[in-house]
Amino acid sequence: HKDLLALKDLSAGEISFLLDTAKPMKEIITRPIKKVPTLRGRTVVNLFYENSTRTRSSFELAAKYLSADSINISSSSSSVAKGESLYDTARTIQSLGADVVVLRHPMAGAPHLLAKTVKAAVINAGDGAHEHPSQALLDLFTVRERRGKIDGLTVVIVGDILHSRVARSDIWGFTKLGAEVRVCGPPTLLPPELEQTGARVFYRPEEALAGADVIIMLRIQKERQRQGLFPGLREYARLYGLNRERLALAAPGALVMHPGPMNRGVEIGHDIADSTVALIEEQVTNGVAVRMALLYLLTGGGAHHEADH
Ligand code: CP
Repeated sequence: HKDLLALKDLSAGEISFLLDTAKPMKEIITRPIKKVPTLRGRTVVNLFYENSTRTRSSFELAAKYLSADSINISSSSSSVAKGESLYDTARTIQSLGADVVVLRHPMAGAPHLLAKTVKAAVINAGDGAHEHPSQALLDLFTVRERRGKIDGLTVVIVGDILHSRVARSDIWGFTKLGAEVRVCGPPTLLPPELEQTGARVFYRPEEALAGADVIIMLRIQKERQRQGLFPGLREYARLYGLNRERLALAAPGALVMHPGPMNRGVEIGHDIADSTVALIEEQVTNGVAVRMALLYLLTGGGAHHEADH
């Protein structure tokens, strides 16, 4: 693959290979001096048309730890704000000499358009409600590191599935690696096409969480609600928020995850978010390792590695 656009496009073997490659990358970032020369002379451009804390900064650090040069372009501070199209911005980035372009965009499919326009490898860092493949890879990495496997686990994704690119990528990733995926939320926040993904749909968290090994809580995306939020935030917190009583329904030692940013007190309470069962900060650290693996493989690292042996 030239690009990473969607986990839907990857086989179980390809996903496992990416996760295997992230393992030595995690060793690098746990050293006192976390820098290797692997991508010296390569250029990574982070092109963000939507806000981000975790994804943008972890791609930037991933590039730096591998000694690539990285720059950040955000829509609000670039000529995008003057009306420059994605196509023209892409051609400009190509001319600047990018080897990898990391794109976050509000429109589903924008990274696919970019990938057709530029020779550089394109990584989808979230496109509308479509996919966020590097997030799902870091979620898979985190679970595999803790549990040693994905196959046979029960993974429950709770929240605003309708607007969630994380949910879509997680459904593909966890299903392909053999987990049972359940999604749960109010009917207003569940898209109709879910049944075709292989995920089981639940409306009541008490049923969905029964026996869960992994619980992924999603943010209510207030900024993307088109017809107001139903149920409202307080009612949502009461009906779907993760608290101690609901967590007790899951399998003993269940892992709690959240892609961030969190709405504390809405989908997750402080008591859970700050407890040892929550892996939210570990997810962020693993995100750097997974993104290092992606940059390495998409710049031909895997091919060199195979040629060496
Ligand atoms: N999880 C995630 O994508 O967070 P950011 O929006 O901060 O990048």
